Amino acid sequence: MELGIRGRKALLSGASRGLGRACAFALAQEGVDVTIVARKRDALEKTGAEIAAATGVKVTTVAGDITTAQGRSAALAACPEPDILLNNADGPLPGDFRDWSRDDWIAALDAMMLSPIEMMRLTVDGMMARGFGRIVNIVSRSVKIPQLELALSNGARSGLVGFVAGLARQTVGSNVTINNLLPGIFDSGAQRAHIEGMLASTGKSFDELWRERAEANPARRYGRPMELGAYCAFLCSEHAGFITGQNLLIDGGSYPGTY
Ligand SMILES: NC(=O)c1ccc[n+]([C@@H]2O[C@H](COP(=O)([O-])OP(=O)(O)OC[C@H]3O[C@@H](n4cnc5c(N)ncnc54)[C@H](OP(=O)(O)O)[C@@H]3O)[C@@H](O)[C@H]2O)c1
Repeated sequence: MELGIRGRKALLSGASRGLGRACAFALAQEGVDVTIVARKRDALEKTGAEIAAATGVKVTTVAGDITTAQGRSAALAACPEPDILLNNADGPLPGDFRDWSRDDWIAALDAMMLSPIEMMRLTVDGMMARGFGRIVNIVSRSVKIPQLELALSNGARSGLVGFVAGLARQTVGSNVTINNLLPGIFDSGAQRAHIEGMLASTGKSFDELWRERAEANPARRYGRPMELGAYCAFLCSEHAGFITGQNLLIDGGSYPGTY
């Protein structure tokens, strides 16, 4: 299928590795010029070079922290008028809410709710004026299936999802859609960090937990980042203008509900 977005410009944060990188790759394969943001320059430059070599699109790299005002300014300076915005960054580590201070909660809200909202604030009016925009937030299944050890994610990400539900209905009339992708278990960095964070409390080895989590999924495996990248590219396509405000699970069927 021709997605109809060749020559469009995408700004993607959290895109040097894992799910964000897969989204950048999938968009670039459709002829979209990509600006990718991450904090560590080496991995970012490597990914940028790989995408450019594989697809021939224009790739711009910005080394910065998207959860800071400085990082957001640098990202938007490199890509001032994005047609496509992907909001993504690190999620929280597992823990017990009894151990978290107000500062921990504020940091979680900054990273998982306020930073994506600020990126939308800075880009959505331009998209509406130009008559095209696709915004995708990488969130988590934790907003539909609370993850007991991930209360910071359950709480902060739900704030983002609630906000998007309202904004998405105000932008779609100008052909600007906003959707949230809710990954289940994926074979990428956040999953590894999550399992590392569960070793002490479970007394199990990394390999044991890794295997158990795959076996508990109806698909009996982890998601592949490129599967999420392809979904993202479709949501950013010209064909997806009637899909907005949705929370889209991509989890191998782990969500147990019928609807
Ligand atoms: N993988 C899963 O199974 C899964 C499931 C549910 C939800 N999620 C969520 O999906 C998101 C992506 O997960 P992933 O597995 O793809 O992680 P990953 O493989 O660790 O990749 C994270 C990417 O984001 C960048 N990044 C992180 N914090 C950043 C920041 N503040 N500013 C700019 N770039 C930043 C990282 O590069 P630098 O470190 O260089 O900045 C890297 O490129 C996370 O929020 C995660 O919690 C993942």
